[in-house]
Amino acid sequence: MNIILLGPPGAGKGTQAQILVEARGMTQLSTGDMLREAKDSGTEMGQIVADVMARGDLVTDDIVIGLIREKLASDSGAGFIFDGFPRTLAQADALADLLSDVGQTLDAVIEMRVDDEALVKRITARSTCGGCGAVYNDITKPWPEDGKCANCGSTEVKRRSDDNEDSLKQRLMEYYKKTSPLIGYYHAKGTLKSIDGLGEIDEVKARITGALDG
Ligand code: AP5
Ligand code: MG
Repeated sequence: MNIILLGPPGAGKGTQAQILVEARGMTQLSTGDMLREAKDSGTEMGQIVADVMARGDLVTDDIVIGLIREKLASDSGAGFIFDGFPRTLAQADALADLLSDVGQTLDAVIEMRVDDEALVKRITARSTCGGCGAVYNDITKPWPEDGKCANCGSTEVKRRSDDNEDSLKQRLMEYYKKTSPLIGYYHAKGTLKSIDGLGEIDEVKARITGALDG
């Protein structure tokens, strides 16, 4: 089963993708994570995207489509979870072509609906593990008291450079202008399932399970 998690910054795409990886053996493809990796390792592409990401703008379609193309050649386990991709209509069309090239289909698009006020609260309290990328939150999912990541034991706490008020405003604007049209696009294709992304992480998980299996 190949699925897209679609939603604004802070909707919980990464959090729920990690849960699906654990529960179902699926493979998470997060273009945001791939771009941050390129940035941290100082590749030429990483240097090109660093300023764009820090501002909260979208990286060019060519770059992210190239990243996804490379990954689609690998084994997906129980299927791919596209997290933060596609984000434009051009990316959505490219994904359809890429999947069809490898004889695969897109089974569901889960739209996670969360209001702006909750998004800001979530993002400003977020941290991630420097060892494995596990997502934490100062309020709703704090680090274990021993300071070690529950997943990998690392003690490195990271905060994203685009998790500040100005970049977040721009990320939200980009979402509403360029990504939200995908809701209509996938509705028309019959693959869209919208869920309420507010509430406890486990409640959202149950709604996604219902949407995928129901
Ligand atoms: P990306 O990394 O994809 O960031 P984003 O879309 O802004 O989304 P986030 O990762 O911020 O949020 P999330 O939905 O994953 O939420 P999370 O689970 O962490 O992209 C970053 C940048 O890269 C873009 O701005 C762009 O520049 C570039 N980029 C990436 N992909 C691109 C593409 N395809 N095209 C062009 N450019 C691209 O949760 C957030 C917080 O909330 C966490 O602390 C979490 O613990 C907490 N939380 C989660 N669920 C709940 C819950 N139910 N209740 C309470 N708290 C919760
Ligand atoms: Mg994310």
